[in-house]
Amino acid sequence: MLRRLHHDQPESFVFTPANEAWARAQITKYPEGRQASAIIPLLWRAQEQEGWLTRPAIEHVADMLGMPYIRALEVATFYFMFQLQPVGSVAHVQVCGTTSCLVCGAEDLIGVCKSKIANSAHTLSADGKFSWEEVECLGACSNAPMAQIGKDYYEDLTAESLAHILDELAAGRVPQPGSQKGRYAAEPASGLTSLADYAAGRAKYNASVELAMALGDTVKRIDGSEAPVLTPWLGGTARSAPPSQGQPAQAEAPAAAAKTAATERLVEAPAGYLSRPEPLAAARGGVADDLKKIKGVGPALEVLLNSLGIFHFDQVASWTGAELAWIDDNLEGFKGRASRDDWVAQAKLLASGGETEFSKRVDKGDVY
Ligand code: FES
Repeated sequence: MLRRLHHDQPESFVFTPANEAWARAQITKYPEGRQASAIIPLLWRAQEQEGWLTRPAIEHVADMLGMPYIRALEVATFYFMFQLQPVGSVAHVQVCGTTSCLVCGAEDLIGVCKSKIANSAHTLSADGKFSWEEVECLGACSNAPMAQIGKDYYEDLTAESLAHILDELAAGRVPQPGSQKGRYAAEPASGLTSLADYAAGRAKYNASVELAMALGDTVKRIDGSEAPVLTPWLGGTARSAPPSQGQPAQAEAPAAAAKTAATERLVEAPAGYLSRPEPLAAARGGVADDLKKIKGVGPALEVLLNSLGIFHFDQVASWTGAELAWIDDNLEGFKGRASRDDWVAQAKLLASGGETEFSKRVDKGDVY
């Protein structure tokens, strides 16, 4: 947008005595030779005094700061917060027209401004009380659509509520800013989905503070006595030897080798962290389920699972978190695959007679 000084300018500008004293005090905040740093607060104060920023005001501020006029003009024309043309004597309405507000009805708000104030932006209403403009995002997107009127935000607007606000302002009243739909702040419009316990007085602390209070010690340093963090898919328990160098992480080992490795490396699980699922000595009725219908279980892993006493979907479906972690930790060459591919959820479906997209492909012979 082209920002130019208004064609109709007053003859002169002076600060009121109070503003002059305030401006002089601002300048003292900056070291000698750096007085130009006070340009924005002084221009802002001039705008507050006059309603908009006139050329005499810009030049007056430049003189006060010992700046060339062009430097002050650069600042005044760069920042959109500076109004370079007269604004309404009561209020200048800044309607956000950026994405969130646009999709939530900003165009309706602009329609209200056009009908109640002036057909084009930066134009005074017939009575001189109002002016308006469309601005970029004002950072209240979750309460869109919104408008800044004076120093306040009016949010969750509708065409009707904005029209009412303008009527109230015109009548000399101060409408309540903030959400016009009764929201306290930026919580979900449909009601709280978080912090509900706090809002209802059921929680005194947030979860972090609550845990710290429960531990009763916020300064204890790590000394190795902490419970281990389970990341078996990273080999993080350090209870198994690291994968051998040069072996591709995802390459399936030959079935026989996998069975041998698993038999040799069964983990001795510490109580409470890993738990071996109850093994079967053999498939029930001598017929095992086709575990390869579980995505992530290839022929080698099926042999491995069988060697661990796992033959049926319902066994996999019943794994607890600790059992799943144990299996993950014992999938030689495939650590963590059971969790990553969510074998338990797949097995639950298959055990109940259902199908997965993957099992359908296996049945059709599309998976080798
Ligand atoms: S899009 Fe309107 S406040 Fe952000």
